[in-house]
Amino acid sequence: MHLSRTFQGVLLAAAIAASARAEDGHEAWLRYAPITDPTILAQYRNLPTQIAVLGDTPTEHAAGTELQRGLTQMLGRPFTVTYGLGQILTSSNAILVGDLESLDKMYVKKQKLPKLKPESYMLGTRNNGAVSQTGIIAADPHGELYGAFRLLELVAANKPIPTTPVTESPSAPIRWVDQWDNLDGSVERGYAGRSIFFDAGHVRPDLARASDYARLLASIGLNGLTVNNVNSDLTTLEPDKLKEFALLAEALRPWGIGMSLSVDLSSPQVVGHLSTFDPLDPTVIAWWQKKTDEIYTLIPDFAGFVVKADSEGRAGPSQYHRTPAEAANVLARALAPHHGVVLYRGFVYNHHLDFHDLKADRARAGFDNFASLDGTFEPNVIIQVKHGPIDFQVREPVSPLFAALQHTPQAIELQTTQEYTGQQRHMVFLVPMWKTALDTDLRANGRGTPVKEIVEGKSFHQPTGGFVSVVNVGLDTNWLHSPLALANLYGYGKLAWNPDATSEQIIDTWTRLTFGNDPEVVSTINELQLNSWHTYEQYTGNLGIGTLTDIIGIHFGPGVGSAENNGWGQWFRADPKGVGMDRTVATGTGYIAQYPKELAATYESLATCPDDLLLFMHHVPYTHILHINKTVIQDLYDEHYAGAATAATYPMLWQKLHGHIDNQRFDQVKALLTYQAGHAIVWRDAVNDWFATMSNIPDAQGRVGHHPDRIEAESMTPTGYEPIDVTPIETASGGEATVCKQALCTLTTTLKEPAGNYTIAVQYFDLRTGASKYELLLNNDPIADWTADATLPPAVVDLHLDGHTSTRYTTPAITLKPGDILTLRATPGANEPAPVDYISIQR
Ligand code: GCU
Repeated sequence: MHLSRTFQGVLLAAAIAASARAEDGHEAWLRYAPITDPTILAQYRNLPTQIAVLGDTPTEHAAGTELQRGLTQMLGRPFTVTYGLGQILTSSNAILVGDLESLDKMYVKKQKLPKLKPESYMLGTRNNGAVSQTGIIAADPHGELYGAFRLLELVAANKPIPTTPVTESPSAPIRWVDQWDNLDGSVERGYAGRSIFFDAGHVRPDLARASDYARLLASIGLNGLTVNNVNSDLTTLEPDKLKEFALLAEALRPWGIGMSLSVDLSSPQVVGHLSTFDPLDPTVIAWWQKKTDEIYTLIPDFAGFVVKADSEGRAGPSQYHRTPAEAANVLARALAPHHGVVLYRGFVYNHHLDFHDLKADRARAGFDNFASLDGTFEPNVIIQVKHGPIDFQVREPVSPLFAALQHTPQAIELQTTQEYTGQQRHMVFLVPMWKTALDTDLRANGRGTPVKEIVEGKSFHQPTGGFVSVVNVGLDTNWLHSPLALANLYGYGKLAWNPDATSEQIIDTWTRLTFGNDPEVVSTINELQLNSWHTYEQYTGNLGIGTLTDIIGIHFGPGVGSAENNGWGQWFRADPKGVGMDRTVATGTGYIAQYPKELAATYESLATCPDDLLLFMHHVPYTHILHINKTVIQDLYDEHYAGAATAATYPMLWQKLHGHIDNQRFDQVKALLTYQAGHAIVWRDAVNDWFATMSNIPDAQGRVGHHPDRIEAESMTPTGYEPIDVTPIETASGGEATVCKQALCTLTTTLKEPAGNYTIAVQYFDLRTGASKYELLLNNDPIADWTADATLPPAVVDLHLDGHTSTRYTTPAITLKPGDILTLRATPGANEPAPVDYISIQR
């Protein structure tokens, strides 16, 4: 309790040193930046420096040390912390942190204690003359931790601490994260480095980062973490592996994060060496029970199993003509005595559909596989449903399965890792998209049943349910590669806690915590983030067509045609006359009938189907007139131009923040936004060219396919450069690029532009291998140089010139006159032949 002055001094110095550290993004929104404004500091003047935590559990220690660290750092005075009962008197100045049980033991009469739901807390402060107390009174240690983070968040965002106590409760018990980490250390659809948990088949010996991650998750109210890929390693349940997982669970435990595992249903056969994995076979049932008991001996608070089965090549009960319910229930019964749950994924579909069958429809699969099983699951089975019926496209309607499962708990699956939304190289703030899904009112049984209330368990009176997000952080210091992408993880946690929080509230607090409270910073970043989903949708795939990325590959750049003509079923059925999936009941796949009556009627009719879902629901001629009174094809062209134009403003808007935030993150984000602006043009042109060719309808504004500002690389005078065809053809201007075949190559042209100031953009291809060097010379004088050393997705070596690798470099304004000689000089890197697509000269 009585800290020596020296120790207090050390603590303070440590806090200040921490705040002066370079801003590498590792602290994410938990930076606890020192507050220097005296008016703001005065707001917290009465906050007592003594933190009294009544309990003594590891989670309570986490809450206590976090408060001490955060408050000391932000307020610049040393805070102290004590644990356990008997340290504190009602009359002392203190920040009191305790759960109902401790309070009960301590000094409050039972009947006076508030009623709090699990994981909830009450937060308030009061000043009574000489006594100043701030209380975090919680239902349990988890609630104490959430309350501590809330208090810190208020201070970091410079907000007042409530004088009338406020009670906060989570929306639902399941608030989990799925990591798609493989035991070999790779991360499926991970864009921020290798796994923080695993390497070379083992749990990493140093789990400091795993517990840092758990801290981040706890700070936004999350409580569960599935550490391994849904495409689970078949050896996951081997005894030696389980011992290693137990160490991982230990690293997460203090932060109230329960560990769960993805399991493969063939495990009884593969790990247990049984002759079958038929879920109804008695030996299989016994195996799951024994295995589950073994897990709980090692990990007493194990959260449960996540199951992906009968999908994308995974084993499943269908092999034995059993249903998902029969399989899930076996696991559930084994887990029930230990209070564990099964998250059985509704993502079950056949990826060998026949494209030529006009009635085949992947979107139907969730409902077709699960709706008839409603009510047959054990109570501790939760069906984990992706928010849309396909797969995290930039725009989808919500899955109709949510309304169909009325006697089964459900969790909505959202994707923080930006698989189809720019892979953290594009800024796309996904909270508005998730809110669109959560707020969609399915009107099941003719009454209000928004998706959020269904998964909270409110609509159909389910005792459990909630939220899961695929996150896929990695070893990149800042967790998700882009500092801006962290807003999605933060936002996910906030929505899981309270799905009624608005996008504006979420981004505002995130920005303040991540980049500071400078009004210029807050308004600029909020604005950038809030319109980014719409912009991305505009320059990728609008009107509900899907992301239009390369579906059978890495899902990053444009790959329009790749969705069609294969079994994966992300079709949009474009032909020379029209486009869109006919999912109507009248003439299409009948998918629309899976929705409750009112919504089905809205989608079925062209008169009422919203434009932004039109091509998801209907096949229409390109000349179909939208509600906004424009043809489909013209809107497609226009939106792609509008989206790319907005993305082009991003680097300039960001530039305003120079000097307002630390240089390290300023530079990093600037580079990313500059890349995004360039890649948005690649998207725009690829999609527009593809549809112009398919529809044979020109752009009424004459932009598509006409680029008077462009000089094709293959039309320039080369030394050592040779032309090469690019596939898909629409991912290079004119379908061709040039590659350097020597140690040093040049492309030269004589400019004809009228005298004036221009920017010069070079469109080239940056492969993951090598680092080609480029130099621009004007009349033999160097004017710019750069190196193609980006680590764009794919994270694997890919030597293709295509929409994933096409990249843009833009010079600042340069004065040109007719007859100037422009030369691009390039040195190839290893396996990277300094490819060039075109040069654009723009006013
Ligand atoms: C997508 C993704 C896969 C993933 C799958 C899933 O299809 O591309 O990598 O395994 O979703 O959610 O199971």
